[in-house]
Amino acid sequence: MPTTWSPDSWRGKPIQQVPDYPDAAALSAAEETLRGYPPLVFAGEARKLRQQLAAVADGQAFLLQGGDCAESFAEFHPNNIRDTFRLLLQMAVVLTFGAACPVVKVGRMAGQFAKPRSAPTETQGDQELPSYRGDIINDIGFEAGGRAPNPERLLRAYNQAAATLNLLRAFAQGGFADLHKVNEWNLKFVSGSSQGERYEEMATRISEALDFMEACGITPESVPQMRETDFYTSHEALLLNYEEPLTRIDSLTGQPYACSAHMIWIGDRTRQLDGAHVEYAKGVNNPIGMKCGPSLDPDDMLRLIDALNPANEAGRLVLIVRMGAGKLDAGLPKLIRAVEREGKKVVWSCDPMHGNTIKSASGYKTRPFDRILTEVREFFAVHRAEGTHAGGVHFEMTGQDVTECTGGAQAISDDNLGDRYHTHCDPRLNASQSLELAFLLAEELKAERQGQQQRQAAE
Ligand code: PEP
Ligand code: CO
Repeated sequence: MPTTWSPDSWRGKPIQQVPDYPDAAALSAAEETLRGYPPLVFAGEARKLRQQLAAVADGQAFLLQGGDCAESFAEFHPNNIRDTFRLLLQMAVVLTFGAACPVVKVGRMAGQFAKPRSAPTETQGDQELPSYRGDIINDIGFEAGGRAPNPERLLRAYNQAAATLNLLRAFAQGGFADLHKVNEWNLKFVSGSSQGERYEEMATRISEALDFMEACGITPESVPQMRETDFYTSHEALLLNYEEPLTRIDSLTGQPYACSAHMIWIGDRTRQLDGAHVEYAKGVNNPIGMKCGPSLDPDDMLRLIDALNPANEAGRLVLIVRMGAGKLDAGLPKLIRAVEREGKKVVWSCDPMHGNTIKSASGYKTRPFDRILTEVREFFAVHRAEGTHAGGVHFEMTGQDVTECTGGAQAISDDNLGDRYHTHCDPRLNASQSLELAFLLAEELKAERQGQQQRQAAE
């Protein structure tokens, strides 16, 4: 860590995507209030996640990261939190069972509020207003009062994140995640579908395996992993006025941690080497994600890797590739080769969402499910060819029965998009599309692991 780093040293750097707060004093007051609030996570938890991600970097585990594009105040409801958590559990169990691979579960939850935008303003008719930047900053409604950045939203977002995290912790440790409940995680609207049926078959086989294990004396009492799970939170560390006051010094190690979430990431639009967002992330000891879009040059990537992970520690850095279907053959091998040549330890994760956004004929922002599947397949194929580990995935998804991405087993068409289009920003996979992807991932991962074993046997 450079000696000049401090939680506020980002303020001396050029910054992108920054909201224009009309009332600076009110912003400082909100930051001061946050400074007095409890941290949302413990440094020790972030360290544990780093250890688990080190296993991913080493090819021994898989990262499953997912949740809303943007959490919103309007969609804040225990059922929404429960359903997304439950879906992530289902996907994780499909992967663990299908590919015999441990899965690290990280939600885009409990803090994923701030959004980068392609333009600072939005014009409707002859009115120009600030763009919507997420509920932590301003209101989605096209109305002058609500679109002005309002610092009180920082506190509301913190409170919502705290309540969300509290429920997630209760679900993860209080019995909901008990493997014996694997049959009950199926969401009602999915259970009748082909994905739901496939899941139920698998759940029955898992239940039989659990019965067998219990007969052999392996019980939830003797093995707590059977009745509870580790679940972590993450978000894009975009609004540094929120991150800075929640940065705390860990009393055990004396090191600074971002205590707004276990893991934070830097977006594709804010990863400038000398910019404010990279500066902030350099000094906190959490696992850090970095989005890698098609414009990322391998040498720039290596400079960013050195800045963010100077000690080259496995588990610190997750490179989240988001290039778009059809672009990985040209874009990914050169990044992987640069990392391998320099011996850098990273987790490679695939975000098949952000390079595949289009505008539908009906005017909705959508993502064709086929293109999402294609990008995931390409990601695995490139890693197979390079002999490296396809370490994880990063999805925008929800446990709700939304119609935001076209295609999938329900064959959502352009005309269906308006039925249940609820997202506050980008289109999310619904539960059935997410489960379909999980089955595909399990097959890809299984093939990768079998290839690995064959190579080891031949050596
Ligand atoms: C996001 O993850 O919501 C996002 C904005 O991604 P990116 O920075 O990759 O565009
Ligand atoms: Co998004």
